[in-house]
Amino acid sequence: MNVLVIGAGTIGTTVVKECQKLERVETCFVLDHHASKTDSLEKTFDKVQVINDMDTVLGHVDLVVEAASQDAVREYGIQALEAGADLLIMSVGALADDELQEDLKGAAKSSRIYLPSGAIVGLDGVFSASMAGIEEVTLITRKSPQALNMDVDNETVVFQGPAEEAVKKFPKNINVAAALSLASAGFKNTEVCIICDPGVDRNIHEVHFKGPAGELVCVSKNLPSPDNPGTSYLACLSAASAVRKICSNLWVGL
Ligand SMILES: NC(=O)c1ccc[n+]([C@@H]2O[C@H](COP(=O)([O-])OP(=O)(O)OC[C@H]3O[C@@H](n4cnc5c(N)ncnc54)[C@H](O)[C@@H]3O)[C@@H](O)[C@H]2O)c1
Repeated sequence: MNVLVIGAGTIGTTVVKECQKLERVETCFVLDHHASKTDSLEKTFDKVQVINDMDTVLGHVDLVVEAASQDAVREYGIQALEAGADLLIMSVGALADDELQEDLKGAAKSSRIYLPSGAIVGLDGVFSASMAGIEEVTLITRKSPQALNMDVDNETVVFQGPAEEAVKKFPKNINVAAALSLASAGFKNTEVCIICDPGVDRNIHEVHFKGPAGELVCVSKNLPSPDNPGTSYLACLSAASAVRKICSNLWVGL
């Protein structure tokens, strides 16, 4: 199987390292706007082949991993799916754009779109429980002023409202709200509260779900990635483990 990783940053590099280990992956193509990001990957990993244009490999690629930006989902997603490749999206907030979401689903006629759980936990249970109905679903995200790029001295609620607005106001920080919405009540009916807290040194996400199947409370207290304080280490590992699952014939925790 051939994989194309778009974006050779924090998450993309973790995926490339995983592809290098996976027996089923023959070639791992990598595409990034900045050559400085890809040069060392090609030198270090023998499965890696750097490309400048997705067109050159479409038709030979089984899985495209977007680990770049919401713009990259728009730029490459539909074309990749139409060429028959599966698409794994990390910039999940892009799917808050209804038109783009419909276009992506329409393009995936013979391929699949994967949305990993990223920096939160419990999406598997939330998705299952939602099948019986949803009374409420809320995400409470708590981050330090540095992580939110804000200047506050005390714990402050900086956003409270539907996920639909949260993903627009905090596009870099709230992919998790998008993933939770898509697994449960949708962008309009999923509540989000973002707290800027000078007392925390990690990104804390609490998922609260209530419905006929019961109540779920799932909490992750994420350390930053070793290479980039802005991205949770768990999000990198979520992308890499998703690729490992896709390459495996044993799927645990769907
Ligand atoms: N789902 C989640 O839980 C979750 C968690 C963290 C980050 N993310 C998202 O995943 C994406 C990647 O995160 P990261 O921390 O690895 O970012 P990063 O900044 O470390 O790396 C992104 C890389 O993508 C490249 N890039 C950006 N746009 C591009 C484009 N249009 N074409 C080609 N290359 C492009 C950049 O040059 C950069 O090297 C971001 O959109 C981020 O918001 C999602």
